[in-house]
Amino acid sequence: MKKLDFRKYCVVSLFLLVSGLNTYANDGYKLWLQYRLIGDEALRQSYQSNIQEVVPLGDSKTIEIALHELQVGLKGMLGPGYLSVDRESIKNSLVFGRKENLPQTIIGFFDKGYHQINEEGFIIRSITVKGKKQLVITGKTDVGVLYGVHHFLRLLQTNQAIGELNIVESPKLKVRVLNHWDNLDRTVERGYSGGSIWDWHRLPDYIDQRYIDYARANASIGINGTVLTNVNANALILTPQYIEKVKALADVFRPYGIRVYLTARFSAPMEIGGLKTADPLDAGVISWWKGKAARIYAEIPDFGGFLVKANSEGQPGPQNYGRNHVDGANMLADAVAPFGGIIMWRAFVYAENSSDDRAKEAYSEFVPYDGQFKDNVLVQVKNGPIDFQPREPFHPMFGAMPKTPLMIEFQITQEYLGCSTHSVFLSTLFEEVLESDTYRKGKGSTVAKVIDGSLSNKKLTGMAGVSNIGTDRNWTGNVFLQANWYSFGRLAWNPYMKSADIADEWIRATFSNDKAFVQPVKAFMLQSREATVNYMTPLGLHHIMAAGHHYGPGPWVDIFERAEWNSVYFHKADTLGVGFDRSTTGSNAVGQYAPEVARMFNDINTCPEEYLLWFHHVPWNYRLKNGQSLWNGMALKYQEGVDTVAAMVKTWSSLEGYVDSQRFNEMKMLLDIQYKEAKWWRDSCLLYFQRFSKMELPEGVEKPTRTLEYFQSLEFPFAPGHH
Ligand code: GCU
Repeated sequence: MKKLDFRKYCVVSLFLLVSGLNTYANDGYKLWLQYRLIGDEALRQSYQSNIQEVVPLGDSKTIEIALHELQVGLKGMLGPGYLSVDRESIKNSLVFGRKENLPQTIIGFFDKGYHQINEEGFIIRSITVKGKKQLVITGKTDVGVLYGVHHFLRLLQTNQAIGELNIVESPKLKVRVLNHWDNLDRTVERGYSGGSIWDWHRLPDYIDQRYIDYARANASIGINGTVLTNVNANALILTPQYIEKVKALADVFRPYGIRVYLTARFSAPMEIGGLKTADPLDAGVISWWKGKAARIYAEIPDFGGFLVKANSEGQPGPQNYGRNHVDGANMLADAVAPFGGIIMWRAFVYAENSSDDRAKEAYSEFVPYDGQFKDNVLVQVKNGPIDFQPREPFHPMFGAMPKTPLMIEFQITQEYLGCSTHSVFLSTLFEEVLESDTYRKGKGSTVAKVIDGSLSNKKLTGMAGVSNIGTDRNWTGNVFLQANWYSFGRLAWNPYMKSADIADEWIRATFSNDKAFVQPVKAFMLQSREATVNYMTPLGLHHIMAAGHHYGPGPWVDIFERAEWNSVYFHKADTLGVGFDRSTTGSNAVGQYAPEVARMFNDINTCPEEYLLWFHHVPWNYRLKNGQSLWNGMALKYQEGVDTVAAMVKTWSSLEGYVDSQRFNEMKMLLDIQYKEAKWWRDSCLLYFQRFSKMELPEGVEKPTRTLEYFQSLEFPFAPGHH
C-alpha cells in the first residue's frame, strides 16, 4: 500500500478550510456586483464605523434603487446585521440625495462641486456637521446620485479608504449605448452567449428579472442607453404591437437612467406603412416618420431615437431613391427633434460595385458631407476602417469631419476574436484606438478628444458598443468576457481611463482582492489581446477569418464574387511577399489621414510594425526591426501568440484556490479551447502562407501536425451568430 503523505494531507485539508467560503457554486450571474464579504477584518470594521446608518433623501424610484443597491452591497461586504446599531449612538452616516433634497445645513459644502458636474455627474464627500461625520453622495439628478452610489460601492469592492473622500465626477460622453444585434426571433447576429435576452413573445406583460439585473449592471458602469434591435433591422419593431413591448422595457430601464433606442429600417414606410416609396424627400414619407415618432414618444416620452444602417451590405437607404446619407439622416432627425430624440447614422458603408480599397470607402463617402447633418445627428463610425479586426489602425474619419459630431462604435462581441470562447480583454484594443493621435489639429488630437467633443467643441457625443450579452447564465458566455462589457462602460464614461486600472477594478469586484490573485490575472488580461493578434493576424494582417461565420482561420477564402469578402483580397500573398499596399504606390488609403500620420504609415521604415501588412506589400525576406526576415518574424509571432495562451492557461491553473469552483473550471475549459484554437490558427495560416514564401519554418516554431488540406476541409455549418 502506498504510504499516505501526511504533510500533504494536512495542507489540503487546511486549504479546504480556509477557502471553504469560496467554494460554493458561483455561475457568474452576478457579474461584477458580487459584493463578497470583505476579508480584511480591520478594513471591514473601519467601513462599518464610517457607515453606521444609511439615509436616503428623496422618494423617487431611482433613490429606492440606490438604497436597495446599498443595502445589498453593504450587507454582502460588511456582513449581515451590522446596520442595526443603536440609533442613539449613531455618529457616522451615509447620506445620499440630489441637490434639491439635501438639507440646507449641508448644501453649502457642495456649491463648488455642483458647478463642476453635469446632469449625470456626482459628488462624494466626507463632511462633519455638529460633531457627526457624514459621507454625502449627491448630484443634480437622482440618476447622478445612483452613479455616485455605485462609485462608492466600487470603492468598497476594491478595498479603498473612505475616511476622507472628495470625489467630483461627470461622464465625459453623453450617449453611452449598447447596440444589441438582436433579432425579433431571439437569435443574435454575431452573438455567442445564447439567445437574445429580450423575450418579445412574453412582453409586455411578463417582466423577466433579467431586464432588471441588466439595467442594474449597466447603471453600475454608467451605460445610459440601449439599442434593442439589430442594425440589420426588421420594420416590425415599429408597429404598435411591438412598441407596446418596447415601452414595457423602457419603463423598467428608466429609473436606472437608461433610455431605449431602436433601429429604423429605412424601407419601413413601405413595409409596414403601405406607402409606395421610402424616398426621404417624399412628403408622404416625411409625414409617415413624423407620425411614427409621435406615436412612439406618446408611449415612451424619453425614447432615445433611432440607429440606422442604410445602404450598407444590402440594407435599404436613401440611395435607393437617388438621395444621399444627409437626406436620409436629416429627414429622420426632423421626425424625432421635437421630442429631443437623436439619430445615430452609421458610416459603415462600402459599395457593392466599387473597385476602390474597401478601407477607403466610408471616408470617401462621408467626409464631403461634413457640416450638412442636423444638430441631433451623430455619425457612428467603427473604430477602424474595415471591420472590428483584432487590430486596425484608427478610422481616418476621426478628426476629418470637424463640423460633425462623430461617435465611435466598438464591437464587444467577438465576431473576429474567437467568438466568446477566447478570453480576450478588449479594453486594450479600445484604449489603443482612443489614444491614437489623428494630428488633425496638431499633435495630441487623439481619437478620445474627437469623440468627447473637446477637439472641435461638440456638445453631442457618444460611444456605442456592440453587445456580447445573451441568455447564457453568465450573460457573456465566458465569465472573463464580462470584463469587456465592464470596460466598455467605464471607457464610455471616461475615454481616458487606463486598461490596467479597469482590469484592476473588475478583478477585485468580480473575484478577489487578494494581491496574489489580482496581479497575475491582471497581467494576463493585459496581454491577452496582443496574444490574439499574434496567433490570428500578426504584423497588420487582417480579415483572414473563415468565410461567413468568421469562426477560425480562413486565409485561403477566395470564393466570393464580391472581392472584398475574400481573405485573399486582404492579404494579397504572392511569391514576392504579403500585405495590402495602401501606400501612395498602392490604394493610397494613407492619404485619408492627416499629413503627419500619412507620412508615418506611408514609409515602410516608419510604419509601426503592427500595421506593416495593413499598409504595405512586403517581400518575404524583408528585414524586420528585430533582424528577422518577414517570413521568420511572422512565424515567430504566431508562435508567440500560442505561447502566451499557454502561459495564460498555466497562470489560471495555479489560481484554483482563489476562485469558486464553477467559475474556475469554466474558465479553465475555455482557456484550454483557446490554446487548441491558437495552435489551429498558427498551423493553418503558416502552412497556407508557406505556399507563397516557400521558406522553412524557423527554429522555435512548432511544426504543424496536420496538413493544409485538412484545415481547409473543416466546416462549421452551425457556428453561432451567423444567419
Ligand atoms: C459586420 C458583420 C455583420 C454586421 C455588420 C455591421 O460586417 O459581419 O454581421 O451586420 O458588420 O456592422 O453592420
